[in-house]
Amino acid sequence: MVFKVARVETTPFDGQKPGTSGLRKKVKVFMQPHYLQNFVQSTFNALGADKVRGATLVVSGDGRYYSKDAIQIIIKMAAANGVRRIWVGQNGLLSTPAVSAVIRERVGPDGSKANGAFILTASHNPGGPHEDFGIKYNMENGGPAPEGITDKIYSNTTTIKEYLIAEGLPDVDISIIGVTSFAGPEGQFDVDVFDSASDYVKLMKSIFDFQSIQKLLTSPKFTFCYDALHGVAGAYAKRIFVEELGAKESSLLNCVPKEDFGGGHPDPNLTYAKELVARMGLGKTNTEQEPPEFGAAADGDADRNMILGKRFFVTPSDSVAIIAANAVQAIPYFSGGLKGVARSMPTSAALDVVAKNLNLKFFEVPTGWKFFGNLMDAGMCSVCGEESFGTGSDHIREKDGIWAVLAWLSILAYKNKDNLGGGKLVSVEDIVRQHWSTYGRHYYTRYDYENVDAGGAKELMAYLVKLQSSLTEVNNIIKGIRSDVSKVVHADEFEYKDPVDGSISKHQGIRYLFEDGSRLVFRLSGTGSEGATIRLYIEQYEKDSSKTGRDSQDALAPLVDVALKLSKMKEFTGRSVPTVIT
Ligand code: G6P
Ligand code: ZN
Repeated sequence: MVFKVARVETTPFDGQKPGTSGLRKKVKVFMQPHYLQNFVQSTFNALGADKVRGATLVVSGDGRYYSKDAIQIIIKMAAANGVRRIWVGQNGLLSTPAVSAVIRERVGPDGSKANGAFILTASHNPGGPHEDFGIKYNMENGGPAPEGITDKIYSNTTTIKEYLIAEGLPDVDISIIGVTSFAGPEGQFDVDVFDSASDYVKLMKSIFDFQSIQKLLTSPKFTFCYDALHGVAGAYAKRIFVEELGAKESSLLNCVPKEDFGGGHPDPNLTYAKELVARMGLGKTNTEQEPPEFGAAADGDADRNMILGKRFFVTPSDSVAIIAANAVQAIPYFSGGLKGVARSMPTSAALDVVAKNLNLKFFEVPTGWKFFGNLMDAGMCSVCGEESFGTGSDHIREKDGIWAVLAWLSILAYKNKDNLGGGKLVSVEDIVRQHWSTYGRHYYTRYDYENVDAGGAKELMAYLVKLQSSLTEVNNIIKGIRSDVSKVVHADEFEYKDPVDGSISKHQGIRYLFEDGSRLVFRLSGTGSEGATIRLYIEQYEKDSSKTGRDSQDALAPLVDVALKLSKMKEFTGRSVPTVIT
């Protein structure tokens, strides 16, 4: 049977502006008739018929609620718009990093390569009928669509009048691997359902020394735990950690992907990864069992990571610095040296110190992975990371949660290569403390005020910008709050000029920089789906190795006090405590 192309009349919806990482809304918003269709057609129109006709597109995601329906809709719309092939991970599952890898590496059974992807995820936001769904488009390089495209998509959503959808094309069974071909008015259309993990596993094997990681993971001295928080990482964790690397099945926690992430909040931090935190001996209720040596967690779409040692938390800012410092020795992919390193502005300056010591090119970019992508495409950056639990490299154009875990396991394997037989294991904590004593320590914490009134949040930000016009006044206020905090020597809103394409990004966070190297940064989150989230980033540098062992909340208490009072956080938000502290 030949499917037909139907033109369906529609009218625009408000608010289809893709944020930092695509369009994220409540499921019930996405389920309105034509809502998803309008966005998908607007994307096809933004790409242009010459890019869409004959294209091979990937469609998959973290498996959250509504994904399966969305995949069938997108398949039918793609067919109607002249797409030649759709690639779907089995059961619609592909982690965000795996999508990036599939675009860059996979060769289809007929020799085809992908041109782009629709990724169905709202990342670390909860899922389920009353929670979030999301969609974003990634380009041929495997990275998120640049602003030029997302702006076009948005503008198309405001004027859309019709969309195209195939009529007479049956739903495709995405649980079965294989290619199904259909006949359309303009020729053949294929849906290729493939194994979600193989391409990604192959890529990881080409980057890391799996043999040495396997030795570590199977050593009786080493214990390991991985928590996928019921996100898509589970589909990769079993294959990689258990089947390839020999970890015990019991090392996997919440590794069965679920549409609602088991009712949890799939964000790998100390608040939401409760079970792992307790298992690692970090919770208030200390477990009786001896915690594992190494623990890690991922978010819903598996691009984020949290790294833990036994009773020890590694801040993401330290994590990227430590990976950069050890990459050349511990990870075969980097044995030829690093092209450069980069971090986002609110991420601590731990990476800067490594870059300086190792004489590496260094970049400070605004929040959002796409800024790293530009540097990587230009061959200027090998390793990068963000305070928001994102770490990665130029092997793909997304951050990569499992890659980060393999990087840490590689460092542990390297540091322990001579003492797995006898001798004391070098632990995660040892590695971090050694790093601090070499490079100094950046005490760091982030306070999040989630879902506050958007008006109040805007006023707080405006107030902080206004204050910046007089540093004398700022310092007077600070003196009235604490006498043990140094003075502000510079305050601005971060602005970035992309060294590759020259584009300028303004208003990327409010900074107060202190004489002793401390920093306060205030930013509004770009990834929420309701209200506003204020993020406050607090950082203090300690060079003296005899003082790098303090508890970070203690060490930062004076600066926190200053930040909260200076910003009038309570007055503007009505909140006396943050929702999450990391
Ligand atoms: C996503 C992006 C990251 C970014 C983060 C910021 O995860 O992929 O690159 O750091 O959002 O989130 P926020 O909520 O702080 O805007
Ligand atoms: Zn994510």
